Amino acid sequence: MTLDVEGKCAAPGASGSDWSSLYFILGAVLMPVALPFVVFECYYRLRVKKYRNELAGKVVLITGASSGLGEALAHTFYKSGCKVILAARRVEELERVKRDLLALDASAVTYPPVVLPLDLAELKEIPDFGRNALSVYNKIDILINNGGISVRATAISSAVDVDLKVMVVNYFGSVALTKAILPSMLKQKNGHICFISSVQGKFALPYRSAYSASKHALQAFTDSLRSEIADKGVQVTCISPGYIRTQLSVNALTGSGKTYGKMDKTTASGMLPEKVADRILNAIVAQEKDVMISDIQAKLAYYVRYLCPPLYFWIISNRARKLERAEAAEHKKE
Ligand SMILES: NC(=O)c1ccc[n+]([C@@H]2O[C@H](COP(=O)([O-])OP(=O)(O)OC[C@H]3O[C@@H](n4cnc5c(N)ncnc54)[C@H](OP(=O)(O)O)[C@@H]3O)[C@@H](O)[C@H]2O)c1
Repeated sequence: MTLDVEGKCAAPGASGSDWSSLYFILGAVLMPVALPFVVFECYYRLRVKKYRNELAGKVVLITGASSGLGEALAHTFYKSGCKVILAARRVEELERVKRDLLALDASAVTYPPVVLPLDLAELKEIPDFGRNALSVYNKIDILINNGGISVRATAISSAVDVDLKVMVVNYFGSVALTKAILPSMLKQKNGHICFISSVQGKFALPYRSAYSASKHALQAFTDSLRSEIADKGVQVTCISPGYIRTQLSVNALTGSGKTYGKMDKTTASGMLPEKVADRILNAIVAQEKDVMISDIQAKLAYYVRYLCPPLYFWIISNRARKLERAEAAEHKKE
């Protein structure tokens, strides 16, 4: 470090004028790139702020509201003054969520949550469930298809019944519920359907074949549906989160259909469900179509998968080998 004639600090080998030229060049190069981002970010924030206030009184049906992300979504929409309908299989857990909501000291005017039992695997019962849900407030403004299960098994060791269960709950269940609610939204020329997919709906991972397949299917259904109803007043959003700190791995199925029962390190160190729920609320009010909520690693994986598939296949083959070795070591211990 040296002192120049004006007594300012300068790095060795670079005078003050060198640095200002460098800053000028960097500014000239980066400004045109950064400026649109800054303008867009300001516009986005203003739009979200404006429309968040319009959420009050909206009827929001959330599936999988008995735990994890669904529970966090229930809190977020309830605190925004929405009339939330909570659906899942475990009614006692839904009642717990309802009690927690009623005990909140929310600043907005709130409405008592409504609990409705729902099993997404029982496809034939879903139209009746849809009618029930619609009859509570005579409309649904926002449907959040969040309920889902994961799997922890290689493709070969996973029974077809397990693949089918994951596909039915994650894909067909949400599709059936959407078909039960959508006609009423089209009739009122207003509404929003949100699907909680996963980054695994964008690229597949080893030991998750059925789960990744169900989320890819959900992504495709969402994109197709959105295009068909683009001019009919109903919005469609697909959310693809990375790891979230929930019970998803604990509740996951093994290849034989048993409950996996373990908290994975990746899930335990994932994003907070409350943060993800808040981002989802913003995506809905801003009418975003396709949103990835993840760390940079998952975003990179997404681009590598489509821009350089051989590199992606090599990376996940290595990951599969690592998982295989870890599984073998665990079996040895037992
Ligand atoms: N956690 C993550 O890392 C992560 C990452 C990306 C995407 N996601 C997605 O986020 C969504 C919520 O999962 P989570 O992470 O919050 O896991 P979670 O804590 O295990 O919650 C799953 C929810 O789905 C419900 N569910 C499961 N099977 C159902 C069925 N047959 N019928 C109706 N509801 C059912 C569960 O309720 P009941 O058991 O009471 O029915 C529970 O409320 C899922 O779609 C998942 O794929 C999670």
